[in-house]
Amino acid sequence: MERLQKVIANSGLCSRRKAEELILNGKVKVNGKIITELGVKVNIQDEIFVNGKLLPQKETKEYYLLYKPEKTISSVQDEKKRKTVVDLVPSKVRLYPVGRLDYDTTGLLLLTNDGQLTNILTHPKHNIEKIYKAKVKGIVTKEDIFKLKKGVIIENRKVEISYLKIKKINYENKNTTLYVGIVEGRNHIVKKLLASLNHEVLELKRERYAFLTLDGLKKGEYRPLTIKEVKKLYSLK
Ligand code: URA
Repeated sequence: MERLQKVIANSGLCSRRKAEELILNGKVKVNGKIITELGVKVNIQDEIFVNGKLLPQKETKEYYLLYKPEKTISSVQDEKKRKTVVDLVPSKVRLYPVGRLDYDTTGLLLLTNDGQLTNILTHPKHNIEKIYKAKVKGIVTKEDIFKLKKGVIIENRKVEISYLKIKKINYENKNTTLYVGIVEGRNHIVKKLLASLNHEVLELKRERYAFLTLDGLKKGEYRPLTIKEVKKLYSLK
């Protein structure tokens, strides 16, 4: 988060003093709301309009696909000083994760400084499909599958399943590995969904994000997205 006047000045539009003047005169809108105080902080996901025009962003856009390992936190910094996903992808620009994976969840996570694309990908109306591989306690039964397919209600809202497949049932150790496809982005949603059927998640890995997979990457590794992939992500709007 950075001060609004600093972000405006850094865009190259005007000096910081001029930016402060514009704010005080009601010429600056953040996410549709006119801001007239100087204390407001913003981040890349915020849409800033100055004099009715979208603020140009000076920074070049960067896009990475990370195979997130466990014991990393999906944010820019952590008050407990734990390792963040941003620490794993060195860059001159300030990167942000697109959505989040839990501390103990592994798998595909996108990082970028493109707030517009982040907004597209995280907006619920765009229904981006994410496929998770989950190892859960207990044997997943036919009834469980039926309930999942019908749609389980979590916190007053149905979780729509776009994909479901049992990979392996381990009768000896009493656990099941399955694939679950979800199009929404609520926090801890896969764990909550499976816990509601009395299956605690033991391991969780995101294997697919829209058309992107972890192919060619090992845990902790990352790669830049190709221009073609970025365009394709934009086209999901
Ligand atoms: N659902 C979860 O429960 N955890 C994640 O990390 C991602 C989706």
